[in-house]
Order: sequence, then C-alpha cells, then structure tokens
Amino acid sequence: MPSKVVMGAQWGDEGKGKVIDILAAKSQVVVRSQGGNNAGHTVQAGGEQYKLHLTPSGILYPDTLCIIGNGVVVDPKVLLEEIDMLTSRGVDVSGLKVDARAHVILPYHIALDGLSEKMRGKGEIGTTGRGIGPCYMDKAERSGIRMHEFLDEATFRRRFKENLAVKNMFIEKVYGEKPLKYEDYVEEYVGYAKRLRPFMADCTVLLHDAIKAGKDVLFEGAQATLLDIDLGTYPYVTSSHPVSGGVCIGSGVGPTVIDECIGVVKAYTTRVGKGPFPTELFDATGDLIRERGGEFGTTTGRPRRCGWFDAVIVRFAVRTSGLGSIAVNKIDTLANLGDIKLCTGYKYRGELLRDFPYSLDILAECEPVYETLPGWEGDLGSVKSYDELPANAKRYIERIEELCDVKVSMVGVGPDRTQILER
Ligand code: GDP
Ligand code: IMO
Ligand code: MG
Repeated sequence: MPSKVVMGAQWGDEGKGKVIDILAAKSQVVVRSQGGNNAGHTVQAGGEQYKLHLTPSGILYPDTLCIIGNGVVVDPKVLLEEIDMLTSRGVDVSGLKVDARAHVILPYHIALDGLSEKMRGKGEIGTTGRGIGPCYMDKAERSGIRMHEFLDEATFRRRFKENLAVKNMFIEKVYGEKPLKYEDYVEEYVGYAKRLRPFMADCTVLLHDAIKAGKDVLFEGAQATLLDIDLGTYPYVTSSHPVSGGVCIGSGVGPTVIDECIGVVKAYTTRVGKGPFPTELFDATGDLIRERGGEFGTTTGRPRRCGWFDAVIVRFAVRTSGLGSIAVNKIDTLANLGDIKLCTGYKYRGELLRDFPYSLDILAECEPVYETLPGWEGDLGSVKSYDELPANAKRYIERIEELCDVKVSMVGVGPDRTQILER
C-alpha cells in the first residue's frame, strides 16, 4: 500500500493541512516528522475550522493512527491544549501517539528564542517565538530532554534542574535578563507529563507494523523547502528538515518505504518572517492578495508577505524532494485581479539564472523575470471539476506544470475539504 509524503514546496502555509485532511480519508496513518508548534495547519470540514499546530491533520478521522514522530519537538503545554480543544469539539483523539524519542520544548527554550531574536536586532530571523531553534540546538548539542525522560518524574526533575542552571547562565550573563526559577515551573510540567503518559509510544514500531500490514501512510510535512535548515534560505529558515528526505530521519523509516512525494503550493507566493523574497509585491495587488487570501499567520497572526508565483522556487522543490506531483491551492484568490504574472527565472547582474541560488547575497540581488498571463473572473469556490474552471485559470495551471516540470494533480478553489479539484 502506498506511503506518500505531502510537503510544502514554497515558504510554508501552502494549505498542507487541507491536502492531508483530504488524502487522509483514504489513509490509516498520518505522521508528523519534523518541526513543532511553529506549524499552523488549517483543516476545514463540515462548517468547522480547526487550527492544528502539533496534532497530525488526519485527526478528524476517528480510526486514523496519528503519529508525532521522533523528529518533532513537542511543547507539552501546547499539545495538551490542542488535545483539550479537539476533545471539547467532539474529536476522538485516542489514535494520537507521540514518539518516546521526541524532544521536549521547555520554558527556557521559549525564553531563549525571544532573547536571541532581540539580540539579533535588525538581523532577526522573525521566528515564531515557540522555542523551536533552542530545542533543536539542545538536541544537536546532546543535552535535550526527550519525551521518555520527561515522562519519568525523577529523571525529569533532575534533568530540568541541571539544564535550567546552564540556561540561566546564558539568560543572565549573555542576555542580562532575570533567570527562570525551577520552582515556578517544575510542578506544572510534572503535571503535563502525567497527562501525556498514555500518548507515548515507540512510534517507529507502530509505523513499521502498520506498513508491514499494508496500511496507507501519509507523512505530513510542516514548514517547507525554503525553510529547510540546509536547503532553504539560510539563516532565514527553521531548524529542521521539511524536505522529503527529512521524513525518514524524523519518523524512523527507511527511504524504500516512500512511494510518492507530493508538493503543496499556493497559486502565488507568501512568506512570514525575514529574508529576501524576489517576487514580493509592495503594491495594492499585494495588499489585495493578502486581504482576499486571508494571508495572516495561523500560528502568530502576523501578516504574510505576498508575491507572484515563483517557478524557480517550485522547480527547486521538485528537484530537492523528488516531487512527482503538486497540489496548487488558492487559485480562487487570484480571480478578478486582472493580468497575472508568473516568475520564470531570475536576472542576476545581467545573467539569467534558472536555478535557485545557494547564496542569500545572490538571491537578494535577483530580479524576477516575469511572463504575463491573462487573468480570470468569478467566484471559483463552487467549481466542482477541473474542466469547469475558466479557460485562463486552466492555462495558468498548465503553464505552472510546464515551468516547474511537474504534474499538477490537485487544484484548490477554497479552504474546505470539498473545495479541491482532482486531475
Ligand atoms: P499549512 O500550514 O500549509 O497547512 O497552511 P495554513 O493553514 O497555514 O494556511 C493556508 C490557509 O489557506 C488556511 O487558512 C486554509 O484554510 C486556506 N486554504 C487552503 N486551501 C485553500 C484554497 O484552495 N483556497 C482558499 N481560498 N483558501 C485555502
Ligand atoms: P507551516 O507548517 C510559515 C518561519 C518563521 C520564521 C522561520 C523560523 O504552517 O507551513 P521558527 O519559529 O521555526 O524558528 O521560525 O520559519 N516558519 C514558518 N513560516 N509556515 C510555517 O509552518 C512556519 N514555521 C516556521 O516565520 O521565518
Ligand atoms: Mg501554516
């Protein structure tokens, strides 16, 4: 049975949650393998909207096994809030499991995220402030606290005290701020641990058994290609690997189990946080896209920077993640805008670049090369098949296919589970 990776192919917020929720109807397992509650995935079904940060977007199906894999960094407080939110809305969360090896985000990670951003000043990354970077730093430095240690009370008390003493040296001596007090947090977190105990498992075993039993598995990417710590627009990236290759490390499976990689894109480009963005629009069209597309962060509420579709970026994602197809969301948002521009390449110091540059200094100097296509009119939200789309919208999709050298398998015409056109 097929295992599919669904991942972001731009700078995040492409509508991955929606696509996962739709594909999860035919899957038995959904796995998150990286990131943490920096992610905000929106699922809309039956008139209800859910904003998920840690829980896999398959959670609305009662029989689906939803795994938070070893590569995810878990804020226990946020996970419990999400579990409570879902339960109070009648969603059965008994299929949710968290891997014992996942690292735990603790209050000092959140404090250090804020303090390091403040120290960077104008050079700030524009993080979500959720403690993601500092938690992955501890993991790489080999001092992090993993879920199995967090859930063992004596171990947690000891490790938390030891780590806090070191973090307080940074907080006081480097950043000149007040230290965090052990007593202010320890009982609260011991309480979270007690509640999370039933959810912990060796998810690598659960996943292996599911695959052996022929179940369909979906790997749900968080963030996106250009936020990948190696391949993205470093240093304006997150601290994990959102490219398809990250799935194996972050969930404990070998690459041979993956049958298909599906990228998710918007019909235009957005990003939150800092860093160069060649097709960014600073004019009324950019404002119109932001307003009509509701382009405000699902996690932080920050306005998203908006710009035209950039085929250089998506080609890069196709290449670095081996994408076999893409879903193009929000084609409805571009309606009634007049002519639409598509970036086909970059001009850098008089030279035409077809490939996404590795250096941010080069990217900052790149001028987008545009192709202009006629726009389309109308409310596309009720369109039920690809053939029914306005001819110019189809032409736009087909041009994206040509420029990005990838098949467009799904087209989104609205936020709801039903608003997808399969091809
Ligand atoms: P994710 O992080 O990739 O899951 O995406 P987000 O949930 O952060 O942002 C995508 C936003 O677009 C959400 O508000 C979705 O409900 C919405 N959305 C997804 N697909 C479509 C679509 O085809 N059309 C419209 N208008 N909205 C969409
Ligand atoms: P989803 O899964 C968009 C961005 C932040 C910042 C950078 C680093 O919803 O697509 P971090 O807090 O991770 O250290 O911030 O990464 N970022 C996202 N942007 N969508 C996301 O997730 C993001 N997760 C992180 O804005 O620029
Ligand atoms: Mg999002």
